Amino acid sequence: MRKVKLFIANSLDGYIARLDGSLDWLFTDDDYGTKNFLESIDTAMMGRKTYDVTLSRGGIPDSPKGIKYYVFSRSSKSNSDKKVQLVSGNVRSFVESLRQAEGKDIWLMGGGELVESFLKEHLIDEILLTVHPVILGAGIPLFRGEHRQTDLKLINCRFYESETLIENAR
Ligand SMILES: NC(=O)c1ccc[n+]([C@@H]2O[C@H](COP(=O)([O-])OP(=O)(O)OC[C@H]3O[C@@H](n4cnc5c(N)ncnc54)[C@H](OP(=O)(O)O)[C@@H]3O)[C@@H](O)[C@H]2O)c1
Repeated sequence: MRKVKLFIANSLDGYIARLDGSLDWLFTDDDYGTKNFLESIDTAMMGRKTYDVTLSRGGIPDSPKGIKYYVFSRSSKSNSDKKVQLVSGNVRSFVESLRQAEGKDIWLMGGGELVESFLKEHLIDEILLTVHPVILGAGIPLFRGEHRQTDLKLINCRFYESETLIENAR
């Protein structure tokens, strides 16, 4: 069965974006495993606020790999962007039916609020967390602390060069 993988970048103090949603702190020359990860998936899911940020950054990129994008929203009922499909119903039944379908693994992109919903429903199979060497001090948290303890198994840990990121910060 296809896995649901949360692949997301985090600051050392646990934020996925600044308070204004900006992501300027996370881009480095190193791709910290993104290229390899994208080979493993053909479907991506994101919360509506993450989608809004994506739109402000130029929208969903044309995907040569044909990634199918789903945007979760309780409030939006229609959407004119042909590159995404809106999901507003029950998260569990939607994800379970996606999992049963043929295909590669499924990327849970975030943000924190959608991750919260997935954790509550035990719908995440793997977490690939890139921890960037920066303490933002404030921001949008990955884990909002509104769920019960979830025990995990550490499978792997990998080091990426962070020189560029540190130089950019100066
Ligand atoms: N660092 C990274 O790698 C990374 C990755 C992804 C996102 N981000 C950042 O994270 C920020 C957004 O995160 P966020 O936590 O504020 O918001 P989010 O999770 O992206 O979006 C929240 C919205 O998703 C919808 N939603 C959440 N749970 C739902 C459910 N169970 N069913 C249906 N819809 C549901 C709701 O949309 P409605 O309000 O429309 O009902 C909710 O307001 C952005 O700044 C983005 O750039 C960073």
